[in-house]
Amino acid sequence: MITSDQVREKYLKFFEKRGHKIINPAPLVLENDPTTLFTSSGMQPLVPYLMGEPHNDGKRLVDSQPAIRLQDIDEVGDNRHTTYFKMLGNWSLGDYFKKEQLSWIWEFLTKELRLPKEKLYVSVFEGDGLVPKDLESKRIWLDLGVGENQIFEYGVKKNWWSRSGTPSQMPVGEIGGPDSEIFFDFGDDLKLHENSQWKDEVCHPNCDCGRFLEIGNSVFIQYKKTDMGLEELPQRNVDFGGGLERITAALNNDPDMFKTDIYWPTIEKLEKITGKQYDDQRKNFRIIADHLRASEALIKDGLVPSNKMHGYVLRRLIRRIATKIDDFEKITDNRVIIEELKKFKVSLDKGLKEISKVEKITGKIAFNLYQSYGFPLELTVELFREKGQEVNLEEFRKEFEGHKEKSRSLSSGVFKGGLADHSPEVVKLHTATHLLLASLRKVLGPHVIQKGQNIIKERCRFDFPHTQKLDQVQLKEVEDMVNNVIKRGLPVSYKVMPKDEAIKTGAIHAFNEKYADTVKVYTIGDFSNEFCGGPHVENTKEIGHVTIKKQEKIGSGIIRIYAVLT
Ligand code: ALA
Repeated sequence: MITSDQVREKYLKFFEKRGHKIINPAPLVLENDPTTLFTSSGMQPLVPYLMGEPHNDGKRLVDSQPAIRLQDIDEVGDNRHTTYFKMLGNWSLGDYFKKEQLSWIWEFLTKELRLPKEKLYVSVFEGDGLVPKDLESKRIWLDLGVGENQIFEYGVKKNWWSRSGTPSQMPVGEIGGPDSEIFFDFGDDLKLHENSQWKDEVCHPNCDCGRFLEIGNSVFIQYKKTDMGLEELPQRNVDFGGGLERITAALNNDPDMFKTDIYWPTIEKLEKITGKQYDDQRKNFRIIADHLRASEALIKDGLVPSNKMHGYVLRRLIRRIATKIDDFEKITDNRVIIEELKKFKVSLDKGLKEISKVEKITGKIAFNLYQSYGFPLELTVELFREKGQEVNLEEFRKEFEGHKEKSRSLSSGVFKGGLADHSPEVVKLHTATHLLLASLRKVLGPHVIQKGQNIIKERCRFDFPHTQKLDQVQLKEVEDMVNNVIKRGLPVSYKVMPKDEAIKTGAIHAFNEKYADTVKVYTIGDFSNEFCGGPHVENTKEIGHVTIKKQEKIGSGIIRIYAVLT
């Protein structure tokens, strides 16, 4: 039986042999990209190169990228959804296109991995008003010997890929294109399988019954969204992504991903610790196995549980494990996880006692459980759902906002996944933070580095180390400096270079943060030189005018500044 590690090795080698350079995966938290919470696909760290910037390693790349998709969190517990997975990815940056991609991926799956051809189905874009039907991909599939009955056509909902969905959902600046998916068919027996919603007459590769599993997607990234609609990018790209866990499940010929060598050892351990059988505990065991794997990966990338943003996601994952198992010390030796579980256990027991007394859950009680016992909202939702009750989310939100809780992780949609807001305001504010940082360093000294930044359309928030708040004179000096640079109309440009080389140039970067091997260094005229991945204006003039609205001391030695466009 082929292992998941072997599948990954085979994939990397297969594409290396075809001229691809194996690149290191990016960290799960992409530093200096204020538009997203976690890396959720292999293409995410490569967006600048898909848009035309040259990549140091050439035009053909391949990797295995760990990814987090929180939008699937409610579905974890079935046989194929997880929050964490490894995405096998290969890219053509304006080099080869559909013919090579579809032929190679077909060869990889059917020859290298020996998946039976008759069990593979594919889909192509059926076209919409703006982008024509993908007849070329269909032709290629037919030429490769895929039967007409194994090729399906779908519209923008299924066969268009961008990080934010269909062409009309894509924000300005986002890139995407039509795609072609590959599905593995587990066969008719699936109608007998768990959770089956089998309906003979309507089953097709994209139906939810569980018979088919999507194992790979070739996206032809060719478009960028602008104010005017879709525009052709200067180059035609290929972005392939395939879930390692799913491909391994297909090779197992078992639709239960948790039966693969990736999860099964954890499941067996859970059976042993609890004395219960997987078949009776599928949902709980799967949630534990997935959340544990995700938490370990996030911790390995440097996160610790906290009440803010990324750290809060990690906390929620660990706390959910706590509700499902008592002997958690036996399932992991990760100290961070054990500490968090232990800390939560006391509150958890009290909270559960509280819950057993509740006759009817209200938003207010849910908020109380959050505030007094640290129960993340979805945990409360889950616990009451088991009792057949729904939490009124609107009511919870009102309570939450009433208490002026500031955690954006909860109060905005960010916690559902990687938002890609490249709106003009965000781009302007993000560029302005470079000017703010450079000005703060000139006024206060070179100890000022970025400790955190958070940007929404309305404002930017910037944290840096300093012992006390700025006095009025310093504040004015910083603000004036920023606005003078804006007025000077300095060009904003960047250079892509290996991380070590970039560090040597003296560009500002955070010493304890993780960067990919190749970084972008942004230069604003003679004023600022900084590592960055986010979106920028081309000339400082475009920013307009910036006003510092507020400053706060948050914790010892960290000052937070809020600035707005005026
Ligand atoms: N970027 C594509 C995806 O995530 C391959 O599905």
